[in-house]
Amino acid sequence: MEYDVIMIGSGPGGYTGAIRCAQLGLKTAIIEKYPSLGGTCLNVGCIPSKALLDSTEHYYNAAHTFAEHGIKLADLQVDLAQMIARKASVVDQTTKGITFLMKKNKIDEIHGVGSFVDPHTIKIAKSDGSEQTISGKNIIIATGSKPSSFPSMPIDKKRVITSTEALTLQEIPKHLIVIGAGVIGAELGSVYARIGSKVSFVEFADSMIPTMDKTMGKELQKVVKKLGADFYFSHKVTKVENKGDEVVVSIDTPKGEQITLTGDYCLVSVGRRPYTDGLNLEAAGLKTDDRGRIEVDNHLRTSVPHIYALGDVIRGAMLAHKAEEEGTFIAETIVGQKPHIHYRLIPGVVYTWPEVASVGYTEEEVKKEGIPYKVGSFPFKALGRARASMDVDGLVKVLAHKETDEILGVHMIGARAADMIAEAVTAMEFRASAEDVSRMSHAHPTYTEAFKEACLAATDNRAINM
Ligand code: FAD
Ligand code: NAI
Repeated sequence: MEYDVIMIGSGPGGYTGAIRCAQLGLKTAIIEKYPSLGGTCLNVGCIPSKALLDSTEHYYNAAHTFAEHGIKLADLQVDLAQMIARKASVVDQTTKGITFLMKKNKIDEIHGVGSFVDPHTIKIAKSDGSEQTISGKNIIIATGSKPSSFPSMPIDKKRVITSTEALTLQEIPKHLIVIGAGVIGAELGSVYARIGSKVSFVEFADSMIPTMDKTMGKELQKVVKKLGADFYFSHKVTKVENKGDEVVVSIDTPKGEQITLTGDYCLVSVGRRPYTDGLNLEAAGLKTDDRGRIEVDNHLRTSVPHIYALGDVIRGAMLAHKAEEEGTFIAETIVGQKPHIHYRLIPGVVYTWPEVASVGYTEEEVKKEGIPYKVGSFPFKALGRARASMDVDGLVKVLAHKETDEILGVHMIGARAADMIAEAVTAMEFRASAEDVSRMSHAHPTYTEAFKEACLAATDNRAINM
């Protein structure tokens, strides 16, 4: 065999796993069908969306909060082309960084579509029409996911778009209709609402981000509403039609009536599907499950023991940091180590402003599982730091076991929650009680005091500043 490990796909799971394999002394190749490395996350996901979220948040603050800070601006304008160009440059720098890391770790980078010839052999079809065949002792499938859709909402990539097109629009939509108020809908809907688009969310469930703790969805709706958005919850889209310059979306209301919304763009953000097209899995003796995912065991092994799979193409949360942990896990498993991933403690973040961040059980889950629990909450508006910066929206909610006081879940919506959630993850990895955190000194004035105060609230209602 030419390689110890062949990684198919260079997203966060693929490139992290390849680097860990190389660090452990395994001769490694990485195959990527696109010209740049980094997968969905770096090219059309995490990084470009955060670049646009940051640019539009700067604009929104300049337009709406600077005056109160005593900063006067005249002739404020959005230069969308420049925003998109800056985003592209951030993506370019970031993906080039991955190429640098591949070279540094002596990983062979091969561009083209990888497919199985047999369980140890991969053929790579290159864009110039040539082919290369390589063999490996171990193969890792890290081919990620693509946007989902329904036949009633055909994507034309012009007016009816996915997140990928929403990251490169040439004009600010006048009316953006967002189907699905999950993570992508909330983030990209915010981007355009901040710079003047009318945004309407049509969501099947009864709230935004319905898989997170219900309090988060309710609070997020309040802040997104301030951007002028409309919400159609428990509504069902029956048809989406591109009529040239406009899109007409037909919707069934909860009362059984039919309404239509007309906009100039429609973002379909109803989830993503695992991507295995072109892999020729049958040649390796592999199958996908009823949801298109590659089945793996607790060691991330497929039914063929030397073939592993990770990230969005397998079960679990579709998150970059989950895929990264799995990349490291597989590399260490291959060399005989005994790694561990605590899936319950993988945090989830929505990068709206304020941000939403969450780890562990939701209140709905503890109720369903019959776990005795107590709740401590603390609002951002009671924090000196939040008032100083005018970021007073949001709260921290801590769920702790009623008898043992062990922290079961932490849910935050507020400024910098994305970074603050790391403290909750650390505390929970060490199985801290709410009282443990409430007795640790938190610098004043910081947003992290909200976590300490929520822990105080969870232990005998001892919050100080409320
Ligand atoms: P991917 O990143 O999808 O990479 C798979 C790679 O495999 C791709 O480059 C693909 O071209 C390649 N490939 C596929 N088939 C083949 C083949 N046959 N041969 C060769 N190459 C192949 N997650 C977060 O944690 N935080 C965020 O802020 C965040 N923001 C997001 C924003 C958006 C708009 C989107 C769409 C997603 C976001 N995600 C975010 C999710 C995140 O991007 C994914 O969870 C993550 O990229 C999954 O990593 P992966 O390694 O499994 O696969
Ligand atoms: P999602 O699963 O977060 O949200 C999809 C939403 O669409 C759900 O609320 C669902 O109820 C709704 N929906 C489904 N079918 C519908 C229909 N027919 N009509 C109306 N609503 C419908 O999926 P999303 O937002 O597309 O994101 C895909 C994945 O990408 C997520 O799993 C997420 O983990 C990942 N991602 C992560 C980000 C982050 O970590 N910050 C950012 C963006 C994406």
